[in-house]
Amino acid sequence: MLDFNFQNETKIIFGKNSFDDLSKEISKWGRKVLLVYGGNSIKKNGIYDKVVAQLDKNQLIFEEISGVKPNPRLDLVLEGIDKARKSDIDFILAVGGGSVIDTAKAIAMGAKCNKDIWSCFSGEVFENEVLPLGTILTIPAAGSESSTTTVITNQDKGLKRAFSTEELRPKFAILNPETTFTLPQKQTIAGAIDIMAHVFERYFTNTENVDLTDRLCEGLLKILIKNIPIVLEEPENYHARAEIMWAGTLAHNGLLGTGREEDWGSHMIAHEISAQYDITHGFTLSIIFPAWMKYVYKTNTNRFAQFANRVWNIEIDLDNLDRTAMEGIFETEKFFKQIGAPTRLRDLNIHDEHLENMSHKCTMNGSVGNFIKLHQGDVNKIFKLAL
Ligand code: NZQ
Repeated sequence: MLDFNFQNETKIIFGKNSFDDLSKEISKWGRKVLLVYGGNSIKKNGIYDKVVAQLDKNQLIFEEISGVKPNPRLDLVLEGIDKARKSDIDFILAVGGGSVIDTAKAIAMGAKCNKDIWSCFSGEVFENEVLPLGTILTIPAAGSESSTTTVITNQDKGLKRAFSTEELRPKFAILNPETTFTLPQKQTIAGAIDIMAHVFERYFTNTENVDLTDRLCEGLLKILIKNIPIVLEEPENYHARAEIMWAGTLAHNGLLGTGREEDWGSHMIAHEISAQYDITHGFTLSIIFPAWMKYVYKTNTNRFAQFANRVWNIEIDLDNLDRTAMEGIFETEKFFKQIGAPTRLRDLNIHDEHLENMSHKCTMNGSVGNFIKLHQGDVNKIFKLAL
């Protein structure tokens, strides 16, 4: 196990009554709130009215930035920064999923400084003050509700990039599983895959003697494998929704990566598909992960055989560990298909015309991933395996 520091300051407020604490939590930070949300879903399912009622009741003043799209765009972030500065906002409240929360985080970065914030997504250091933000999560997926990261798309440059700093961790995250009852099947599936992918990015490591976090990863994956089919059959099954929602936060709050080297190559490769084709994040991962696994498993066949055995209950064949490893990869791909996710680029009508350029963009600042360092040629081969 490697040395590590672990701290996660996001207060998790979980359950059916979690909305009750909203104003109390915001009031710790000020009275002028910027409410950030996406399209119409929070108005249709009543969440918007509940939030506004709470803010009004406690005389909190609020402005809005709405219309955040999946794969959130820089132009709306800039609009939000302008509004936050002009209205002298104290606190940002994001109500939605990863796209909304990431937009809110990027606004929080820009509100207190004159820096071109895109420069930070391109590698520049960011050392400015960040506005505090809180979240009401409506889709378990990105884990942004307690992560240090924001992922934004610069449409003019055709780039989707992440930026992380501890200051971006939300002050609180309100998680009421009932808010997820209205999720379309597609979003439930894509979200669940993103959660699994967050575990994979940590599980597939060459760091040795990490039994505790291995077991936590495996347990979390098993809970997802059990509960995802349940919520697809019964969207209003509170207990199954609750398991998935909590799993989504735990998968990406930093705990599972403690003491081990993480990978993140697959996320970087998957972001190129979203940047080029504006595809839902979870579905870029259900396509890239099986291909990445097939490309890299020989680097550490034991780890892939352990994954097959402990997560998919495949008996280890000591005379042929490669076979055990591959069976685990096939089970993963089969599960993605069973729940209705695409596993090949062709499932989304994507062919090879842009793959070379996407591989170039993915690696233009150097190799990606740690399990194996992937260079342009490797990324291109992974795209080809995913065709
Ligand atoms: O816009 P509305 O109308 O609200 O509809 C949204 C949106 O269309 C809908 N939705 C959300 N909650 C709903 C609902 N519809 C009905 N009922 C509800 N309760 O779902 C759609 C997708 O929302 P989005 O926020 O895009 O989903 P997700 O949470 O999957 O976020 C994806 C984004 O997060 C980034 C991804 O790259 C992608 O841009 N990520 C952020 C990370 C982070 N900050 O740590 C890590 C992740 O790996 C990921 O990269």
